[in-house]
Amino acid sequence: MKIFIDTANLDQIHEVSSWGIVDGVTTNPSLMAKEGVFDVVSHIWNISRMINGPISVEVMPLDVKGMVMEGRKFAEIHKNVNIKLPMSTEALKATKILSSEGIKVNVTLIFSVQQALLAAKAGAAFVSLFVGRLDDIGSNGSELIDQTTTVFSNYNFNTEIIAASIRHPGHVLDAALAGCDIATIPYNVLKLMISHPKTDDGINKFIDDYKKLNLL
Ligand code: E4P
Repeated sequence: MKIFIDTANLDQIHEVSSWGIVDGVTTNPSLMAKEGVFDVVSHIWNISRMINGPISVEVMPLDVKGMVMEGRKFAEIHKNVNIKLPMSTEALKATKILSSEGIKVNVTLIFSVQQALLAAKAGAAFVSLFVGRLDDIGSNGSELIDQTTTVFSNYNFNTEIIAASIRHPGHVLDAALAGCDIATIPYNVLKLMISHPKTDDGINKFIDDYKKLNLL
C-alpha cells in the first residue's frame, strides 16, 4: 500500500520525506488555510521539490469550465501534480476532459461506492474515500473501503483508491487489510504508527543494560 501524507505543512512534509515511507501528498483548501497559504502555485512547487510522487491540489471553482481552467493551471506547476475535484456532475464532466488531456484527477469527498464507481468511469486516476467523516456520523468508513476495493477489482478498474480522512492507526490497518491502493495519513497518525509502548519499554531496558555493561 502506498502512503501519502495528508497535509500542506512544509515542515511536516520535509520531516517525513526523510523517513523513506512517503509516496505522495494530498492537500485540500482547509489544509491550505490552516497553513495560511496565499500563493497556492508556489506552495505546491515547494512541495514538489521535497516529494517525488503524486501531489493532489484541489480547485476552487465548482463549475466545469472553472474546474478545467484551474486544473490545467495547477497541472503546469509540476508533472506530479494531480487535480482534486469534489464529487458532482460538474466534476465528472471536468474529470472526463482533464483525463483525456493526460491530467490526472483525484475525485474527492466520496462517501459511497456508487460515487466512486461513477468517478472511475469518468476517468479519475484516484478516488478519495472519507473514512473518518463517515465514522463521525455513525456510519462505517472502513466498510466503504472494503466494498469499493471489491467492486474495483471485480471490473479491473485502473483508478486507485485512496483511504482519506484517516483519524487513527486502526483506519490504516483497515485500509491495508482491504487491499486499498493508498492511505493518505495526517502527520500525527504517522507518528502514532511508529511507536508502541512495548518498543519504548524495550529500548529503555536495552539502554539500562548497556549502561551496566559499560560499568564492568
Ligand atoms: C483527503 O485528501 C482529505 O484532504 C482529508 O483526508 C480530509 O480529512 P478530514 O476529514 O480529516 O478533513
